[in-house]
Amino acid sequence: MDAETATGMSKTALITGGATGIGAAIARRFFAAGWRIAVADISDDFGFDGVLTSSAPTPRVLVRRLDVRRRESVAAFVGEAERHFGAIDLVVPCAGIHRHGPSATFEWSAWDDILETNLNGCYAIIKAALPGMLSRGTGRIITIASELGIAGAAESAAYCASKGAVISLTKALARECAPAGVLVNSIAPGPVATGMLMAVDEYASGAEAELLPIGRYGLPDEIAAVAEALSGDAGTYMVGQIVSPNGGAVI
Ligand SMILES: NC(=O)c1ccc[n+]([C@@H]2O[C@H](COP(=O)([O-])OP(=O)(O)OC[C@H]3O[C@@H](n4cnc5c(N)ncnc54)[C@H](O)[C@@H]3O)[C@@H](O)[C@H]2O)c1
Repeated sequence: MDAETATGMSKTALITGGATGIGAAIARRFFAAGWRIAVADISDDFGFDGVLTSSAPTPRVLVRRLDVRRRESVAAFVGEAERHFGAIDLVVPCAGIHRHGPSATFEWSAWDDILETNLNGCYAIIKAALPGMLSRGTGRIITIASELGIAGAAESAAYCASKGAVISLTKALARECAPAGVLVNSIAPGPVATGMLMAVDEYASGAEAELLPIGRYGLPDEIAAVAEALSGDAGTYMVGQIVSPNGGAVI
């Protein structure tokens, strides 16, 4: 059921990290389902097949270049989206980065960058959108964690720590916000074929796909489909849940 059919009026989704990969798939899927979308990314290379490339807002699309590590800019983006669309119904903080390296020699600058982007950037966009949702007594938040935040992975301590923290953040916010009508859940994907994954040699070679029960990496739109389900009728009784579309990587 699309957003307009479900509610009689179009709903608004706010997505960070929406230029490429999973975030772009989420933006595309929600737009196709009739949602209004506010999409932000540190890159201005938005891959929306020419539909959403203009920076001029349209009645259903607001696209902005944004670094989620800059808290004032994040708050300004949420404010602009609220003014443009009236209200935010769904927040999907998807912006993320991954850096590999042995923990003994891992650079603090890389550690800080990962935590600032994956954890603080996630919290910043939620924090900015929460007042509006709480005042209206309705809203959905879907964080994008990772199965690695549950299972861990060698030479990925910062990334795993950031995603484990996103999971804890999701659970804490879920308990805090559900009584006020705002439902917070998380998607913790397994390996998904995006630029982030393919930057790692073992994944690019396909070797890791053969280890998965399903025998292949996920597609970005398979994660977007879970986000769509969680934001619709399938999510009305979901509170603080970590949903893992992962091809069987973690069972
Ligand atoms: N691909 C996977 O296997 C996988 C698995 C589990 C979780 N995830 C998570 O899914 C999310 C999307 O990752 P992806 O695989 O689509 O990777 P991706 O690299 O294709 O997309 C990440 C996006 O985040 C943006 N971004 C990075 N830093 C930013 C910042 N400071 N401010 C704003 N935007 C920023 C990038 O420009 C990019 O468009 C990430 O949070 C990632 O950790 C990915």
